[in-house]
Amino acid sequence: MAQNHTPFTPDSGTLQIDLPSADAATAFAEICAQHLGAGDTVLLSGAVGTGKSHFARALIRHHLGPDTDVPSPSFTLVQVYAAAFEIWHADLYRLTYTGELAELGLDEALGQALCLIEWPDRLGDMPIGPALRIDLAYHGQGRLAQVSGASAPLRAALTSEFAP
Ligand SMILES: Nc1ncnc2c1ncn2[C@@H]1O[C@H](COP(=O)(O)OP(=O)(O)O)[C@@H](O)[C@H]1O
Ligand SMILES: [Mg+2]
Repeated sequence: MAQNHTPFTPDSGTLQIDLPSADAATAFAEICAQHLGAGDTVLLSGAVGTGKSHFARALIRHHLGPDTDVPSPSFTLVQVYAAAFEIWHADLYRLTYTGELAELGLDEALGQALCLIEWPDRLGDMPIGPALRIDLAYHGQGRLAQVSGASAPLRAALTSEFAP
């Protein structure tokens, strides 16, 4: 699919978005931010360095200002931000057992806060409900994002911004 630059694949419902630079990835995150709020879940998958934290940082800064410190939650597992609603940024790469998710309170934050979750495969069989899924991959100097589970308005906004 890497050679196909069409941002919208009607049959699968998956948007494929070319992000040639970190600035493009920031613009992508800001459009998503405008269509996400309390109770929404974003699952960010993709190899190390594909821009999962970059997406979360841009979204959090969209709400809290460009100078907001957004440290990687790779050791703390979660960082919680107080915007107009809570934003939870989780990086589950180092999760050692799924019971830790409840200890962190992530099970209760899901469906209440806006939850941005890196390495969502570590969630195991924890029920997460409907979610926006963003799968990032290396693509030349940039990245390719496969987006599924987007609301109709978000799909429309992304298609209009990223259509060739
Ligand atoms: N679309 C993109 N094109 C080029 N560089 C990007 C893009 N998205 C993110 N980056 C850069 O990739 C690097 C790694 O991003 P990061 O968000 O830490 O990855 P991850 O959290 O997936 O491990 C950062 O320097 C970031 O600015
Ligand atoms: Mg990361």
